[in-house]
Amino acid sequence: MSRGRFITFEGGEGAGKSTQARLLADGLRARGHDVVLTREPGGSPGGERIRALVVSGAAEDWSAMTETLLMFAARDDHLNAVIRPALGAGRWVICDRFSDSTRAYQGAAGGVDGAFVEALDVAVVGKDQPDLTLIFDLASERGLSRALARGEAETRFEGKGPDFHARLAEAFRGIAAQHPDRCRLIDADGDVDAVAARVWAAVEAAGL
Ligand code: TMP
Repeated sequence: MSRGRFITFEGGEGAGKSTQARLLADGLRARGHDVVLTREPGGSPGGERIRALVVSGAAEDWSAMTETLLMFAARDDHLNAVIRPALGAGRWVICDRFSDSTRAYQGAAGGVDGAFVEALDVAVVGKDQPDLTLIFDLASERGLSRALARGEAETRFEGKGPDFHARLAEAFRGIAAQHPDRCRLIDADGDVDAVAARVWAAVEAAGL
């Protein structure tokens, strides 16, 4: 049994990632692939319990370091319970956010030492790195207003203010530039079908 494929979706708030992750999963299933669509933080029963702690409440409830540790705790559970078994069974895993969100939100925008985030990634994720990461790029003020208009309960990160979100958009562009082998920047401006076509083109071009 050959290993499955691991694709992650990344970017700031309100860039349409989750919709596009679902559409890609549908498209791959229509082509006969066995696909697991999942998300972080969360994705496993234990991971979802940690998610409930970290995505709701006031922005100042947790430091960026506490967030980092919670994100990697949730990630460890998710990898062991869902991602590794699925990849081992030859399935495709599409994950809405993964370690690049910790690099951007807690590292570059939150001030946690990047080398510490990398050390956690080595310890927790190890060799199970994504084969392809699609980074959704949208001006942070547009994304943020889209996210806030949804009126969801999980608004802790949206509450961190415009400067934080502008740093985040820069951080994601930096990650894409640093990892050109794995990352593709997706222009998230446009209607759902136009963005879906860009996603599909990027996946086909990656030749997974
Ligand atoms: P979502 O809104 O895309 O479901 O993600 C939940 C929030 O969690 C989002 O505001 C980004 C944040 N997050 C981090 O800060 N670090 C991480 O490592 C992950 C996976 C998410």
